[in-house]
Amino acid sequence: MRTTVGIIGGGPAGLLLARLLHRAGIDCAVLESRTREYVEQRQRAGMLEQGTVDALREAGAAGRLDAEGLVHHGIELRFAGERHRIDFPALTGGRTVTIYAQTEIVKDLIELQLADGPPLFFEAEALAVEKPESERPVVRFRHEGRERTLTCDWVVGCDGSHGIARDAFPTETSRTYAHDYPYSWLGILADVPPSCDELIYARGERGFALHSMRSASVSRLYLQVPNGTDPGDWPDERVWDELAARFAIDADWTLDRGPITAKSVTPMRSYVHEPMRHGRLLLAGDAAHIVPPTGAKGLNLAVSDVRVLARALTELHRTGSARLVDSYSESCLARVWQATRFSYDMTRMLHAQPNGDAFDQRMQLARLRRITASRHAAAELAANYSGLPLAL
Ligand code: APR
Ligand code: PHB
Repeated sequence: MRTTVGIIGGGPAGLLLARLLHRAGIDCAVLESRTREYVEQRQRAGMLEQGTVDALREAGAAGRLDAEGLVHHGIELRFAGERHRIDFPALTGGRTVTIYAQTEIVKDLIELQLADGPPLFFEAEALAVEKPESERPVVRFRHEGRERTLTCDWVVGCDGSHGIARDAFPTETSRTYAHDYPYSWLGILADVPPSCDELIYARGERGFALHSMRSASVSRLYLQVPNGTDPGDWPDERVWDELAARFAIDADWTLDRGPITAKSVTPMRSYVHEPMRHGRLLLAGDAAHIVPPTGAKGLNLAVSDVRVLARALTELHRTGSARLVDSYSESCLARVWQATRFSYDMTRMLHAQPNGDAFDQRMQLARLRRITASRHAAAELAANYSGLPLAL
């Protein structure tokens, strides 16, 4: 098989890149190791920056998003029995965010791609990227029981945190940075209307809790648990009791309960791979970086990588200039490190530190009080959360 851009991974990064390249008239193909059903049901993120909404509109993939997405103008920080709202438009000159599940983005992009291309192969597992330094890199993959090859002009690893594209980078010129957090998130989906209009980030001695949502009738909530927690040890009643305790405030507010339809535990990690390009092989999304979900940056960072890369490959295709391709890694990493910093700071500020002491708790409260007392500090959080400008 032969294509111009071989894309490994059919998650948000790979699917959006394929759509943007296809619309630019650039030949590409996507290899996804899992089944369509599997990738469409994987519960992941749900908070979109404006840039992500813009990218999906640019890709012609925002029909349902525009109809069903929930536009939010802020979040609530809840701590020490207090509620503090962060008003995004007032603090950022008008920026808002949108709640729309990553599963729905993936469904929308797959439907479009299967309808009018480019080729999307499910259960096609990439085994290796060969000759990335050459002008004809090759993806060796297994599909329908056979080993096959895809010869490309460019290969993009959109294969997430467990992918293989990174393996083709020479160790002597690659650097990785990692930080593992001493806690995880237990996430649930529940058939119950949200008990809030906007997201609630709650910090308490019992641990962190987040109230998000997927629609007017489906809630998405998370609570901090120790690493290695088995979801089976958390029956529905225990989950709701612990969430109610962590969101408790004196005011007339109650957490409505309902049947839990999905439950999973996710460890928290920060990870960056530098550089994001080696020869004709490029990385985008979780293949290059992972952030703890507290700052809601994972999906949005993947999309911003793809926007930069699609623009770079389109300029190369149309003008022959490799200027943007040559600056791809550096311009993406600048944004990746800022999102990594913000996600780390939000995570450390809001989670109970298992080995922390009274001083650590006071530091967390001091950070939160600075944000809720200072317009300047609140504006800094709002700017990072709603999305820093894209270096396009
Ligand atoms: N061959 C083919 N496909 C692969 C391979 C492989 N060897 N390895 C992994 N994949 C696929 C996975 O099955 C997955 O569908 O690559 C895809 C990677 O998708 P994501 O993990 O969703 O990563 P990305 O597209 O970068 O999106 C980032 O997803 O994980 C969340 O929190 C993250 O919201 C962020 C978003
Ligand atoms: C979600 O809705 O899944 C979500 C929202 C905000 C976060 C993390 C997850 O910070």
